[in-house]
Amino acid sequence: MIGAGSRRIVITGGNAGIGLALARKLADRHHVLITGRRPQGELAGILPESASYVVADQSDPEASARALTDGLTDLGWDSVDNAVLNAGVGFAAVDGFDTTEAIRQTLDINLASAIAQARALYSFLERARGTLTFVGSVAHRGSAAIPAYAASKAGLHGLARALRSEWGGRVAVQILHPGPTRTDMHEKAGYDPGRLRALFLDPDETAKMMAAAIASRRSPVTTSWLRYLAGGAFTGRRL
Ligand SMILES: NC(=O)c1ccc[n+]([C@@H]2O[C@H](COP(=O)([O-])OP(=O)(O)OC[C@H]3O[C@@H](n4cnc5c(N)ncnc54)[C@H](OP(=O)(O)O)[C@@H]3O)[C@@H](O)[C@H]2O)c1
Repeated sequence: MIGAGSRRIVITGGNAGIGLALARKLADRHHVLITGRRPQGELAGILPESASYVVADQSDPEASARALTDGLTDLGWDSVDNAVLNAGVGFAAVDGFDTTEAIRQTLDINLASAIAQARALYSFLERARGTLTFVGSVAHRGSAAIPAYAASKAGLHGLARALRSEWGGRVAVQILHPGPTRTDMHEKAGYDPGRLRALFLDPDETAKMMAAAIASRRSPVTTSWLRYLAGGAFTGRRL
């Protein structure tokens, strides 16, 4: 039930995978605005009932930021307690090379949109002394099969460090780096992890670790198997 102490939370890419698991975890207690690429009509029965939804296609970074702030205005929100910039894509490279289109899409959706959305959300977050969370990846250190994806996540890592320093005392900024998680992302990327998929974390477990990390405001935080085995999904502050 949404009551006293509830927060206003934005989750981009919250209609599938990790973002959806996080939205489902938080929507009972908080006001949640989800964004995604697909129209709401395709999401019947998927989104949490209490959550709001707005289409913000990150293929066009500036337009996605405008769609997001228009959504906040439509809801009458003048402040945001937490923004989780989670939407992302990947494309499996062939022989180590991404296509020109894959490079453009990856950087626009994963990095340029996050920059534009962070800028657009700043005043909303500042009013609440809120927290901006970027969702990176353990691949930000470099990963052979997905060079453009790794570059986009390394860019987010640097962006988070810069804004954490620049916005300190007004808006907390952090980056979370999930480990491999059992979502549809790999199939959409054209990458078959084969038997390794069985070792991937369940999205609900990744979401639990992310929620605790968001509440902690620490940065960077890696939410991988190691943290999970150390009890990371069951310890820490509740968001
Ligand atoms: N799964 C993993 O192993 C893993 C590991 C490390 C980091 N991550 C990161 O975690 C985040 C979520 O990944 P996931 O595994 O949950 O992926 P997912 O299941 O494929 O979900 C991706 C989300 O991003 C949205 N999205 C994709 N393209 C978009 C666009 N052009 N405009 C707006 N939204 C768009 C999708 O919306 P639509 O469905 O409407 O397209 C969906 O909500 C990503 O940033 C990913 O890089 C994932």
